[in-house]
Amino acid sequence: MKKIVVLTGAGISAESGISTFRDSDGLWEQYRVEDVATPEGYAKDKALVLDFYNQRRRQLATVKPNEGHRQLVRLEEFYDVQIVTQNVDNLHEQAGSKNVLHLHGELTKARSERDSNLIVDIGYSDIHLGDKAPDGTQLRPHIVWFGEAVPNIEPAAQLCEVCDYFIVVGTSMNVYPAAGLIHYVPRTSPCYLVDPKAVTVSRNITVIQEKAGTGVKKVVDELIELAKK
Ligand code: APR
Repeated sequence: MKKIVVLTGAGISAESGISTFRDSDGLWEQYRVEDVATPEGYAKDKALVLDFYNQRRRQLATVKPNEGHRQLVRLEEFYDVQIVTQNVDNLHEQAGSKNVLHLHGELTKARSERDSNLIVDIGYSDIHLGDKAPDGTQLRPHIVWFGEAVPNIEPAAQLCEVCDYFIVVGTSMNVYPAAGLIHYVPRTSPCYLVDPKAVTVSRNITVIQEKAGTGVKKVVDELIELAKK
């Protein structure tokens, strides 16, 4: 089977009711990144940061995948599909995508403050000061904060190097190293981008300037037609 890598960002979850970061009503309009998404912010006010992610986790428990997530699952009958997401929600998994690689962590997981590999599933529960990881240290969100390492970027780049098609959905391509993945895609592999806004990328790409809920289906229909030939 031919391989497809799908790079997704906050935009694919927007129609599920989850705010993006840099749109006009985005999260970074309401919070300062340095306060809630950096190790320094966490060190300064752990309770504030824990509450920020507790609120996002509680919201995640109330939302569902949208048509954009669901359409990507259709591809799996015809292609080897690998989702590489910047999102920390679990909507791709809820929709039924089998292979999901999270670059920036997962809301439903927490980890030891000391050992980033000591990860526990917490579902949609809150994390409070005093909640301990198995190694006795404070539990923190299993989220990659700005300035922290992105351990999954290596496997993600390796997947991009061998993909036959690359689809970008709902990301402003503002944040590295995620935005740099497109440069690992072979020049001969067709690329598609689904976003209601114009997003600049430095290679030829087929743009569907629509929301994920309608635009992803257009790419999926085209690729399924190709697979049937
Ligand atoms: N369908 C598709 N795309 C949409 C939709 C929609 N309904 N609504 C908005 N978008 C697009 C926006 O036009 C924008 O290009 O989604 C993109 C969202 O961009 P950002 O808010 O910057 O989110 P993202 O690219 O995922 O941010 C990357 O930055 O703050 C960090 O760790 C955080 O993972 C995040 C990373």
